[in-house]
Amino acid sequence: KNIAVIFGSRSVEHEISIITAHQVLSAIDREKYNVIPIYISKDGQWYTGKCLEKIDNFKDTLKLEKKATPIKALNGLNGKLIVKTPLKKFLIDVCILATHGTYGEDGSLQGLCEVFNVPYTGSGILGSTVGMDKVISKIVLRSNNIPVVDFLHITDHEWRKNKDEFVKKCEEELGFPLYIKPALLGSSIGINKAKTREELFEAIETALLFGHKVIVEKAVENAREINCAVMGYREPIVSVFEEILRKRDFFDYNEKYLSKGKDGKFSNHKIPANLNKKLEQMLKNVAISTFKVLECYGNIRIDFLVKNEEVYVSEVNTIPGAFAYYLWQASGLTFSQVIDNMISIAES
Ligand code: DAL
Ligand code: MG
Repeated sequence: KNIAVIFGSRSVEHEISIITAHQVLSAIDREKYNVIPIYISKDGQWYTGKCLEKIDNFKDTLKLEKKATPIKALNGLNGKLIVKTPLKKFLIDVCILATHGTYGEDGSLQGLCEVFNVPYTGSGILGSTVGMDKVISKIVLRSNNIPVVDFLHITDHEWRKNKDEFVKKCEEELGFPLYIKPALLGSSIGINKAKTREELFEAIETALLFGHKVIVEKAVENAREINCAVMGYREPIVSVFEEILRKRDFFDYNEKYLSKGKDGKFSNHKIPANLNKKLEQMLKNVAISTFKVLECYGNIRIDFLVKNEEVYVSEVNTIPGAFAYYLWQASGLTFSQVIDNMISIAES
């Protein structure tokens, strides 16, 4: 079987996608699959080539482009993706989408695969698009009685028209402290906490640098951050839970992705999380409902906030970093089995 591992793309999470792809390329079963790496540069050009197998320096994306072979044409034929370079032609049976964020996790790349009629891993267009949007996903979850924290949102246009009114509304309806996030990004980019009106003002301006829509959420003070992965199609399974042990109010990019210890494990993840039976069962039920309600498929990670016995869905990641393999590993599946499962789900 020819399997493409697609990564990169026009996203602020570009580098994280390179890390995920690197991990997938190392773990995928080479006896079962013929693997074709495909890299989408920041300006949207597609590349392939053996050199992409050995991506070690994810910061040097220009080097990747120089070494790799440009893809000249893509086409679809009988459920396969045709990839043409100046010298070769590949027929792809399944695309593993190892992309994060805009133009990769948000339904657009999924749509391209649909148009070419090639199977791809992860959620479909709808689940991807809704999952990527922190406002829309929370509205859908809330209307299905899945608990989310109180929030408000604003677009750049509305913000410019009436800043004071929105700030007042946040103060009155939510109250400080607040978290301010770009509505359409992952990986903690552009997120700030505000304890005062001035900080809120500034945080909204910052978040708007990353996109046209901003979500303002009521902070759940001293909440535990608990995550799990959910994998499957119609009857998904839930992984063990992890607890993120934070030193500060929230992770920044470096802390989240570059803080592996010497043994290669994240020093700030406790796996499995310490949870009582009742809480664990509640989280499992909410995780499965969330997966179903948002029409997710494949392998997603759900991030929760937990305070005492209260549980809130904080966000879903329809293409989680490193495919959350460490959660599945702790649940008895190897990374290569996770990839096998994702490929089978894509083909079903
Ligand atoms: N959006 C990143 C990759 C994550 O949360 O896993
Ligand atoms: Mg995320």
